[in-house]
Parts: sequence; C-alpha cells; structure tokens
Amino acid sequence: MSAVVEVQQAVCIHRTADSEVVALRGADLRVEEGELVALVGPSGSGKSTLMALLAGLLKPSAGRVEVLGQDVARATERQLLALRGSGLGMLMQGPERNLLPYASVRANVELAGLGSGMRPAERRRRAGELLDAVGRAGAARRSIRSLSGGEQQRVALAAALVSGPRLLLADEPTSQLDHANAARITELLAETRDRWGTTVVVVTHDAEVGAGMDRRLTMRDGRIGAEARSGEHYAVIGQDGTIQLPQELAASFPPGGRARVVRRTGHIELHPAVTTPERQS
Ligand SMILES: Nc1ncnc2c1ncn2[C@@H]1O[C@H](COP(=O)(O)OP(=O)(O)O)[C@@H](O)[C@H]1O
Ligand SMILES: [Mg+2]
Repeated sequence: MSAVVEVQQAVCIHRTADSEVVALRGADLRVEEGELVALVGPSGSGKSTLMALLAGLLKPSAGRVEVLGQDVARATERQLLALRGSGLGMLMQGPERNLLPYASVRANVELAGLGSGMRPAERRRRAGELLDAVGRAGAARRSIRSLSGGEQQRVALAAALVSGPRLLLADEPTSQLDHANAARITELLAETRDRWGTTVVVVTHDAEVGAGMDRRLTMRDGRIGAEARSGEHYAVIGQDGTIQLPQELAASFPPGGRARVVRRTGHIELHPAVTTPERQS
C-alpha cells in the first residue's frame, strides 16, 4: 500500500523583502491510508508550513513532497487544482476562513463541492448527508453568521468533506472552541476516518485532540523530532542520524555542547561531557 503522504527531507524557506526564515529544515513524514495523525509542537516550529506544503499551497525549497501520489514540487497548476478539488479537504485555522458568512449553511457545503466534478444533485445529496453527520442538518437554511463558533466549525468540516477527499488536513480546528465543542470535532474527525476511510492530519495544541489520534508527531525547529503511538514515545532519527533530545534535558545537554556516546548491548548511553577541553595545551 502506498502512502497518502510522503515527505522526505523537506526544506522550506519563507522569503520576504528583507529576511529569510527557514521554516522547515529536513522534515520527514509518512502517513498511510486511513491514519489519524496529530501534529503538535511550539508556535513557529513549522506546523502550518508543513500543512501548506501538503495542501499544495507552497512548494518546498528542497526535498520531496508527495501527496496522494502527486509530486507537489513538480505538479502543474492544473494538477494542483485537481488535487485540491477532489483528493484533498482542507480546514484552515478559524471557521471564518473556510466559510462564506452571508450564504446559508447548505449553500456553503454545496459550493465547497464545486471543483469536484460531482453533478448538482449528487452535491446536494452529499451536502445533506454531511450536515446530518455533523449534527447541523436542522440549520441548513440558516446563515453562517447566525451560528456559534462551534457550529460554524462543524459546517466547515462538512464543507471540507463534501467532495469525498481521501486526505483531510485541519489546522487547529478546535483552537477557538470550548471543551464540549472541541471534543465533538475530535469525535467527528475519528468518525470521518471510520466511515469513509479518510486519512486525517490535524495540527493541534489541544492534548485531548492529540490523544484521540493514532499517532502524535511533535515538531521542533522545522522537523518532526518525536512521535508517540500506542502509548510509546519515540525519537525520530533524521536522515543524517541526528535525534532531537527531549527539551527537559537541555540543562545537562546544552545545544552546542558535547555528549559521550557509549555503546551497550541493545542500547546506547549518553553522558554529558563535564567540560569542553578546548583551551588545553
Ligand atoms: N509567510 C511567511 N513569511 C515569512 N515567515 C513565515 C511565513 N510563514 C511562516 N513564517 C515563519 O516560519 C516559521 C514557521 O512558521 P509556521 O509554519 O507558521 O509555524 P507553526 O504553525 O508551527 O506556528 C516561523 O518562524 C514563522 O515566523
Ligand atoms: Mg500555525
């Protein structure tokens, strides 16, 4: 089975008039069909940049990004539009960025299916089914503006799913929601996978959202440094053999310092170097 997402050594540099920011420095990620994956990590660690690469909204400065078999760096505009139109569902941060405020709930969901090549009757049927699934069927005729944030986020989810994407990307879908609404969105993400087999990658700060996913990947300094799955925590080994030490060890292992690596049978030991003997004669 080929992966839905395959990112190898992705580097992404944001260039502005007077500066360059390296947002991704050698990020590796592989997501299999039907997986629920959470991306966590401090602000500025590159989560949104990685999502933008996966959505085909940005091209990597170096490295390889393959989404649903499509090489994003080499794809033509047309191929990217086709990918966004049907293969990919995107839920951007903040419901207002995903919805037309003056249109009705139903119109929003139906319109989101425009690029998918579905016939109008099929879109209407599918919109109804999804509004039902997210529990907003009764609000179909209301305008988006009259809904609460949590209700809007559910409608946005229905809109992101209307074209039947194989991959759903959601950037902080619960950040503005209260606990109950956040829990409902998390449930809906899991239901989406269970019902339609959709692969889900979600950026979140919310530990509970993360706990509901199969894998929780932690980004730091532009790469994925750690992974938690099935109750186990792993360090991710980079292409050049580097691992990111847990940040709580920074006092014993300061960046730029030295560590002695001692091989043992079946494991290694890492000892902090006592001093740096640079100035010895
Ligand atoms: N459009 C941009 N122009 C310049 N710098 C950017 C841009 N987008 C993100 N960055 C910078 O890239 C780094 C990673 O940002 P981002 O991917 O948004 O991280 P996260 O989503 O984890 O907070 C940050 O230092 C951020 O300031
Ligand atoms: Mg972000």
